[in-house]
Amino acid sequence: MIRIVVLVSGDGSNLQQLIDSCHSGRIRAQIVGVVSNEPNAYGLERARLANIPTQVINHREYADRASFEVEVTRVIQEWKAELILLAGFMRVLTPAFVNRYSGQMINIHPSLLPAYRGLNTHARVLETGDRMHGCSIHFVTSDLDAGAVIAQAVTNVLPTDDLAHVTQKVRKLEHHIYPLVVSWLAAGRIALLGNKVYLDGQELQSPICIYL
Ligand code: GRF
Repeated sequence: MIRIVVLVSGDGSNLQQLIDSCHSGRIRAQIVGVVSNEPNAYGLERARLANIPTQVINHREYADRASFEVEVTRVIQEWKAELILLAGFMRVLTPAFVNRYSGQMINIHPSLLPAYRGLNTHARVLETGDRMHGCSIHFVTSDLDAGAVIAQAVTNVLPTDDLAHVTQKVRKLEHHIYPLVVSWLAAGRIALLGNKVYLDGQELQSPICIYL
């Protein structure tokens, strides 16, 4: 079974879905460790409750990004991970780190990329008045939130929706789509060649789109 490391910084609700999906067999993989740059991230507690090894690598204790990443790399190697999942991991990664794990590292982002890269996506969607919103799973490249998108889950935004509603709706989508995409990766069905995504050997012309 493929060995997965999950990088978190916060609550870890996506991590929880991934843990549960590995336990149920929906994802045929083993989460061999969870890394957090935040010592108090609740995601660490979720991992401990599931008997998954954890490692805190507090970025504040490192002189620069590169030395922080040396430690992250050391831990990933120690755990012999083959797939790296960013799940609410709030550190920008250097091109050297990203290139090292090209095709092996994915992220979940709370917008329909390429729209709304960066932070505060839900507030920005509401401000613009968009009626469609969602989340994207993409390969990580050195351009922030700009790697090839594998899949997106889409929901509507009602005129009555406030920030809490939208956040909750998109989080629900995330919890559905992240385990689904990871199950495909774990089964060897998804590959990145150049900056193109392949599913079962066929190049995707656009991201797989799920309306929920
Ligand atoms: C999610 O909205 C994810 O899209 C973003 O950070 C949030 C993490 O939530 N990258 P959680 O820690 O998984 O609950």
